[in-house]
Amino acid sequence: MINSKTIIITGGAGFIGSHVVRRFVNNYPDYKIINLDNLTYAGNLANLTDIQDAPNYSFQKGDITDAVFIDALFEKEKPYAVIHLAAESHVDRSISNPMEFVMTNVIGTVNLLNAARKSWEGDYINHRFYHVSTDEVYGALGESGMFTEETSYDPHSPYSASKASSDHFVRAYHDTYGLDVVISNCSNNYGSHHFPEKLIPLAINNIKNNKPVPVYGKGENVRDWLWVEDHARAIDVIFHKAKAGDTYNIGGHNEWKNIDLIRLLCEILDQKLGRESGASAKLITFVTDRAGHDLRYAIDSTKLQNELDWVPSLQFEEGLEKTVDWYLQNEEWLENVTSGNYQDYYKNQYNS
Ligand code: NAD
Ligand code: DAU
Repeated sequence: MINSKTIIITGGAGFIGSHVVRRFVNNYPDYKIINLDNLTYAGNLANLTDIQDAPNYSFQKGDITDAVFIDALFEKEKPYAVIHLAAESHVDRSISNPMEFVMTNVIGTVNLLNAARKSWEGDYINHRFYHVSTDEVYGALGESGMFTEETSYDPHSPYSASKASSDHFVRAYHDTYGLDVVISNCSNNYGSHHFPEKLIPLAINNIKNNKPVPVYGKGENVRDWLWVEDHARAIDVIFHKAKAGDTYNIGGHNEWKNIDLIRLLCEILDQKLGRESGASAKLITFVTDRAGHDLRYAIDSTKLQNELDWVPSLQFEEGLEKTVDWYLQNEEWLENVTSGNYQDYYKNQYNS
């Protein structure tokens, strides 16, 4: 059974990781949470200012591709468990630079598995390796159907191929060595602290600044959107209750065509910025499609609902409005992130 011990959360300075770290630090004062993150362009400690001084929280800068460093960290901290979110996460970047995705998502994951194996050997039953993955490993759907936990893997982008590979390694370490592993595959997240290269925060930022909003192809691609705090709650439930070797799909039952979603965002922002109705929609600009662009994702999360009693808590329209409000109220965060200032600050602080 899980009790009050050290948990390493990787990628805790990123979008979803920061919500997971916050939830665990606030809800489990007996856990010692170590946020292991290399502070890449996507990592930002300003995402965690509200909990940075909590007695059960610490930050460890480090690169999961560095096996020597990871082994030493496990040796020093003797963690009870790992919740692994660190990754290169943006599909467009994976198309221009696939090797970074192989390094962090595949090699980095295997380094963590090796360190866990060495550190926990003989006592796997009292440890847990939780790997956070994506619905993109299942490939693309047509007009109908949903991804279940039984759907065969069929990744199309270098990003999803690297995540699929890491999932396979995690399962292989369970089957081969008996490591206690759990995997979840989640749909598109949205919410606060989302880096503005991804569709929703990019569109909010561009609409706010009267800049063109790029919509790939005809905007017909469909994504299943889930509020990031509901994802963090699902990770909490799965981490504490799943059986060793189990997999859960996590999704919002909330499919939107990109173009419809962008039009809704334009309407919300017209209203919040006091613009004439229809003004922001004029910023929509159709651009060249993403190479290998998956048409549709939709998650069937019945297993999670039936076995672990998890359902999304927020209706999308409400969540989207909350998200827009957060970006409008946190201009400094957005400016630092878009200008890159946050990186200079933390680079100086951590000498890298
Ligand atoms: P993100 O890009 O916002 O954050 C990634 C974090 O990992 C950053 O803080 C970065 O500094 C850190 N990182 C990257 N390379 C590292 C390395 N080599 N060593 C240590 N740290 C490193 O990502 P996100 O959107 O929060 O996604 C988190 C996880 O959830 C990823 O594994 C992703 O595949 C998965 N996921 C994301 C979504 C989504 O919609 N964003 C959906 C399903 C699953
Ligand atoms: O499904 C889960 C995945 O969701 C995660 O595993 C990834 O880490 C995460 O980045 C996200 O991947 P997507 O590629 O779906 O997200 P993105 O925000 O990049 O794009 C969402 C949709 O919007 C997609 O169909 C591409 C389109 N798009 C995206 C951008 C950035 C545009 O039309 N214009 C854009 O400028």
